[in-house]
Amino acid sequence: PPRFVVIGNPVGHSLSPAIHAQFAMETGTALEYATLLAPMEDFAGSASAFFEGGGRGANVTLPFKIEALRFAASATDRARLAGAANVLTSTGGRIAADNTDGAGLIADLTRNLGVSLAGARIALLGAGGAARGVIAPLLESRPAALVIANRTLDRAEALAKEFASLGPIEARTLAGVADGSFDVLINATSTSTKGTPLALAPGCLARGALAYDMAYGPAAKPFVEHARALGARGSDGLGMLVEQAAEAFLVWHGTRPATAAVLATMRARP
Ligand code: ATR
Repeated sequence: PPRFVVIGNPVGHSLSPAIHAQFAMETGTALEYATLLAPMEDFAGSASAFFEGGGRGANVTLPFKIEALRFAASATDRARLAGAANVLTSTGGRIAADNTDGAGLIADLTRNLGVSLAGARIALLGAGGAARGVIAPLLESRPAALVIANRTLDRAEALAKEFASLGPIEARTLAGVADGSFDVLINATSTSTKGTPLALAPGCLARGALAYDMAYGPAAKPFVEHARALGARGSDGLGMLVEQAAEAFLVWHGTRPATAAVLATMRARP
């Protein structure tokens, strides 16, 4: 069967092998999917060895998504706009880059969480790689406004300028979103994964707004619980992880698997 891996460092904790295995079972697709730990300083060496050995596709996770885009010979528009790739595919040894993270976030928000993004006021917290990767797909969803809020205002302003042609985007400081006017607030800072939960100003969240953390599991818990305590709906990013995997499965196998059962399995894991 065709061989797939997720490349990262660390990568042992990755849920991608289990997710793709369950998609494979559900769709009757033959595949092998393993983890590949690349040394910090040699992503390209590991990726080359995998593809030269006949590997068909790779998911790429932290910290290699930017390098993955550079590594590929071609890239989709959405990978270019994200400035990063989480999917690499070999066609006769030629490597193409794609990015399904943004599509995964949109699918989780709209299909799983029932949010309508068209006409919504969205606050995106953070201005690093994780935030950049989802700006274009969020703007394509036709929100009334997308506010990039960041601790360092300069970085938010640079992103707002760069993506201005795609839709109504503006930059603010983190404190600048405390006016309670947002329907959806997305945490794309690295605070959850670094174990330093982001404190939201009480005025940040309107009642019934959705506060979404792109991290998942225990890392996202403080943010999600904090948001709920402020009267908002809260969700971690596990659904985004499963949906980006479904989008990658579509790229590789030509069919987009159903995600509900996989999401339930991942949610129930110990
Ligand atoms: P990633 O690729 O995960 O986005 P990054 O490029 O290092 O990582 O970006 C981290 C993001 O989290 C940035 O927006 C950063 O804010 P600054 O641009 O001001 O550095 C944000 N961040 C990290 N730690 C933070 C903290 N303690 N409070 C608020 N924002 C934080």
